[in-house]
Amino acid sequence: MENLKLALLGFGNAGQAFCRLLLDKQDEIRDTYRTDVSVTVIATASKGNIYDPAGVDLAAALADIEKNGKFSEKHKLIAMSTMELAENADYDVLVEMTPLNIFTGQPATDHIRAAFARKKHAITANKGPVAWFFRELSQAARDAGVCFFYETTVMDGTPVFNLTEHTLKMAKVTEVSGILNSTTNFILEGLALGIDYDDIMERGRKMGFIEADPAMDIEGFDAAAKITALLNVLMDAGITPDQVKRKGIEDITVKDIKDAASRGKVIKLLCKGVRNEDGSVEATVSPVEVSRDDILAGINSTTSIVSITTDLMKKISIIEHEPEIEQTAYGVFGDLLRVLDAVSVRP
Ligand SMILES: NC(=O)c1ccc[n+]([C@@H]2O[C@H](COP(=O)([O-])OP(=O)(O)OC[C@H]3O[C@@H](n4cnc5c(N)ncnc54)[C@H](OP(=O)(O)O)[C@@H]3O)[C@@H](O)[C@H]2O)c1
Repeated sequence: MENLKLALLGFGNAGQAFCRLLLDKQDEIRDTYRTDVSVTVIATASKGNIYDPAGVDLAAALADIEKNGKFSEKHKLIAMSTMELAENADYDVLVEMTPLNIFTGQPATDHIRAAFARKKHAITANKGPVAWFFRELSQAARDAGVCFFYETTVMDGTPVFNLTEHTLKMAKVTEVSGILNSTTNFILEGLALGIDYDDIMERGRKMGFIEADPAMDIEGFDAAAKITALLNVLMDAGITPDQVKRKGIEDITVKDIKDAASRGKVIKLLCKGVRNEDGSVEATVSPVEVSRDDILAGINSTTSIVSITTDLMKKISIIEHEPEIEQTAYGVFGDLLRVLDAVSVRP
């Protein structure tokens, strides 16, 4: 293959950061894989859709968005919907970067189904498909003989799935736990430091990771989707986010936090999955008190941690320290390199 064609579904923070990284690394990819990577599709909700089988001018597309917030007429704009592009456009790899629908995993899952039906590879940064339909999608990818990668869905580009797949071979995962939601972690830390709730929220919004409506984070829905994705991949759990026993931090008061501190404890929103004796996997998200000298107590701000326990390697922990959007971009980029590893003949 001399040119790998990408269809980018979603061109928001993650999509644009990925394109900047792709532009930076184009020459290195060509030298390493003897393959060009071009983008033939960019689909958005409101900025316009571009379809150019000869390759979109990415620098111009990024400049358009920065300057005008939408794509200009110099691109090949098309009236086809995202789904029509997934079903009909010329591409080799579909890159799913549309927003998460935490309750359905759609329409991202249908985009990926469409790619697999055409024997195209798929990469997703959107955790919905992995949380809701992992078994079906991974089987469909195997049937089609194509790649399905999703490293970015939990802890951005931090190698959680890759690490386990490649370096913990034949080790059986028996438990997964972690602090996976930045918003709740940031709020709990701020409250423990005595900062006013509204000030915490304002700072988090300025830093760009607290949503206008943070209910999905505060009530533990986002954490539930993340632990579901982890358990589906690492433990073949076959569960969906609505099966997680979920409690968010909405009822945690400053008094709770102070009382915990007086006992030498810190409150954290912990995600956990364990295998029951009958083989099923039980997932929980709930606030827990951890000892101040526990590694979890030091996971603050936007830092996150996942601990993986296996029969052969006991418990190992991976920490992602205060990620930025570039780490999200690297997650997608790393998955792209894995597709290139699979399809190209390296010199
Ligand atoms: N941001 C992160 O650090 C991060 C980290 C890990 C995973 N992720 C995941 O990556 C995905 C993208 O995140 P983001 O931060 O880039 O979100 P974002 O900034 O909100 O961008 C989402 C993009 O998707 C587009 N879009 C919405 N519905 C669409 C549809 N039906 N078809 C095509 N495009 C559609 C939006 O169009 P408009 O531009 O017109 O609104 C926008 O370009 C999400 O699933 C997120 O959970 C993000």
